[in-house]
Amino acid sequence: MVGAALDIFSKGGFAFLSRWSHVVFGITWIGLLYYFNFVQVPAFAEMEGAARNNAIDKLASRALWWFRWAAVATVLSGLLILGFQEQLNKMEYFKSAPGMAIAVGILLALTMFVNVWGIIWRNQKVVIANARNVQAGGEADPAAADAGRRALLASRQNTIFSLPMLVFMIGTSHFPYDAPNVSGGHRATYWLIMLVVWILFELNALGVIGGLKPGGTNIIYDTHKNTLITGFVYAAFVIVVYAVALA
Ligand code: HEM
Repeated sequence: MVGAALDIFSKGGFAFLSRWSHVVFGITWIGLLYYFNFVQVPAFAEMEGAARNNAIDKLASRALWWFRWAAVATVLSGLLILGFQEQLNKMEYFKSAPGMAIAVGILLALTMFVNVWGIIWRNQKVVIANARNVQAGGEADPAAADAGRRALLASRQNTIFSLPMLVFMIGTSHFPYDAPNVSGGHRATYWLIMLVVWILFELNALGVIGGLKPGGTNIIYDTHKNTLITGFVYAAFVIVVYAVALA
């Protein structure tokens, strides 16, 4: 019988459904992130003020709704998969090669989530309120430009994080390895390198290292091309660090 051969209501079935929903929510979140970075930001830069305010009011506000709630659903479904993780019974899981991979993937994804709600949405609310106010004939809010800039830096940084994050999300179960044991020393070095690079990027996105202006260390956010190159280099870098830690 089909039901017995493929039992979708078993523990394994729910594990599969949480994985499937996680990918659906994840592509919604990251798809919109890429839309903002590669389509909307360059298009808005070419639009005149009135048209841009109208687009912020009607288009960006809707895209941001799907964006931030897809982020919530992605995190929740991701935690659900983690709950189904058999090896998680022992916390030893995070010392294993797959555990080391998913832990850094989750670190990057959680940072992206905090950036979405704490930086991007908080500042975009100021931008949207200003656009609506100006459309209604009110005075422009002088704080709106600064808010938009802060949101942009966090959004570009999330694009950079997304590439190594996906290396680990997918790699955890699909890296071409037979999940070797990793020595304590290799694990410590792996974590040290991952944490230092992660915190430097995040501090830079918050303006702590390079301020808010273009150029300097913010060159990685100056164009979406620079952002993409940085993201791909970072993804290649984490693969090398992980491979060396496992060697
Ligand atoms: C804090 C947020 C997140 C958590 C806790 C989380 C957790 C997980 C876990 C536990 C897995 C299973 C790894 C495995 O054992 O194979 C996974 C896989 C995956 N995640 Fe996430 N994740 C998060 C964010 C994201 C985001 C933002 C995306 C973006 C698209 C994403 C996409 C994926 C994909 C594509 C897989 C692979 C599914 C598979 O190979 O079957 N995750 N995630």
